[in-house]
Amino acid sequence: MKKVRTAVLISGRGSNMQALVKAAMAPDYPASIALVVSNLPEAEGLAYAVDRGIPTRAISHVDYPSRAAFESELDLTLREHKIEIVALAGFMRILTATFISHWTGRILNIHPSLLPAYKGLHTHERAILEGAKKHGCTVHLVTAELDAGPIVLQAEVPVLPDDTSETLAARVLEKEHYIYPQALAVLASTINMS
Ligand code: GRF
Repeated sequence: MKKVRTAVLISGRGSNMQALVKAAMAPDYPASIALVVSNLPEAEGLAYAVDRGIPTRAISHVDYPSRAAFESELDLTLREHKIEIVALAGFMRILTATFISHWTGRILNIHPSLLPAYKGLHTHERAILEGAKKHGCTVHLVTAELDAGPIVLQAEVPVLPDDTSETLAARVLEKEHYIYPQALAVLASTINMS
């Protein structure tokens, strides 16, 4: 079976990237993690990938004069590594419509809410403040509009009366690690069949 070459883009601890790497070790998983990129050289998750022999690149956005220059280096790096799918996993840079248009239908993102609820940042705090009874996470295709692309998979968790944003985030994160590998497999299988 051909494995679809996937790059995971991170900015931090990379626990979702780790979940993808672990899933991709299964012989019948339809994608391989062929590259991990961070826009922050100090991102914790890079060491995990290095330890497993996965090619990594730090492309520090502050080293580039513009967002376009940063993205063109990112695009070039992805192409050099023959990447077919880009999986955003806690990647804290907004990508422009131009970059996204080069990867239409091939960029996934994991967002910590039940989209379309709570787009943007601080989703757990906002869910608690508003008294939401349900919360969760969404894997979606990335389009030019932030957190608004077609949904691939969602998972729901209850919001408990004594939840803090930390306890709720931890409950959601467990589901993220469960659905992101599944969603990547769905997209990779679709690409394999096309
Ligand atoms: C996750 O909650 C993800 O949904 C959000 O950023 C966080 C990244 O966590 N986009 P990690 O770096 O994957 O551990």
